[in-house]
Amino acid sequence: METAYDFPQRPRRLRRTAAIRALARETRLHPEQLVQPLFVLDRRGGEPESIESMPGQLRLPLNRLVAECGELHALGLRAVAIFPVLSAEKKDAAGCGALDPETLVLRAVRAVKQAHPDLCVITDIALDPYTEHGHDGVLTEDGADVDNDRTVSILCDMAVLNAAAGADFVAPSDMMDGRVGAIRNALDAAGFAGTGILAYSAKFNSAFYGPFREAVGSAAAAGTTLLGKHTYQLDPANRRAARRELDLDAAEGADILMVKPAGPYLDLIREARDRTDLPLAAYQVSGEYAQIHAAARLGWLDLRRARDESLLAIRRAGADIILTYFAKEIAREQQAACASAGA
Ligand code: PBG
Repeated sequence: METAYDFPQRPRRLRRTAAIRALARETRLHPEQLVQPLFVLDRRGGEPESIESMPGQLRLPLNRLVAECGELHALGLRAVAIFPVLSAEKKDAAGCGALDPETLVLRAVRAVKQAHPDLCVITDIALDPYTEHGHDGVLTEDGADVDNDRTVSILCDMAVLNAAAGADFVAPSDMMDGRVGAIRNALDAAGFAGTGILAYSAKFNSAFYGPFREAVGSAAAAGTTLLGKHTYQLDPANRRAARRELDLDAAEGADILMVKPAGPYLDLIREARDRTDLPLAAYQVSGEYAQIHAAARLGWLDLRRARDESLLAIRRAGADIILTYFAKEIAREQQAACASAGA
């Protein structure tokens, strides 16, 4: 090559061809690192329901959930997070449904683990699917706040029920103080020392949960009612507070730490990565998914490129594991790419 200058460094050499770029690539998306969140409906069969603000995501009847898990597993995904969608009459002020031994999520976990024992099943530990007000815990007597310790005691019982149903990881997403340690003790005392805790450690009070709340019908707490989730979820302005929560959950015995949402909090993912040797997860939440879809629908963004870039950024920031509604399509595309490369 004829050169005009005698530059000693030419980084573009590593970007010259697709083969060289692949060799020099530092982070990748692999289906084994992705977790597909799934919504389950309280009926055995019938048609799935679509979720308007989450194109391509469905609320699945139980038998379809089991079939979907088989499909995901065959595509190379190894883990799912199951969220129950309960009708209004199954909800009350105290979230009693969470401790019903036949509650939907427990039946779903049993059915999935029976059909697909190798799939890692993660369940959410928080009361929002079960409370009529949509909060993650029970309220204090005057209704002005969520009662931390009464909530933690319910979450402990809930975690034991989920472990007994076969959940591989319980994932406290409530942000109550002390819950990780309390849940660890409860699991150990009940004989579930092998059940892991995936802690939603740095979970922010985010506007990006909107579509999820539509999906599970917990929108009541989103701000229109007596209080938002400000008294327990982290203030989006706070980085030191997030570090403190991450450290506490690690000290209390969490097996995996998580930052949520992911894309707007890449700085915290990097901080967490640099602070702990535990595996680190990040949740690309419903609103992050929805905004990519909405822009793509308007023709303003290329869906696949924006999707892959958003996920690579989360990996690059330091997350090992990503919970993302895009998991299935990524796995499907990678399997198709492998098949055509092999053909
Ligand atoms: C409930 C919970 C929420 C999400 C996961 N678990 C919503 C909330 O805290 O209100 C959000 C996930 C998403 O937006 O994709 N504790």
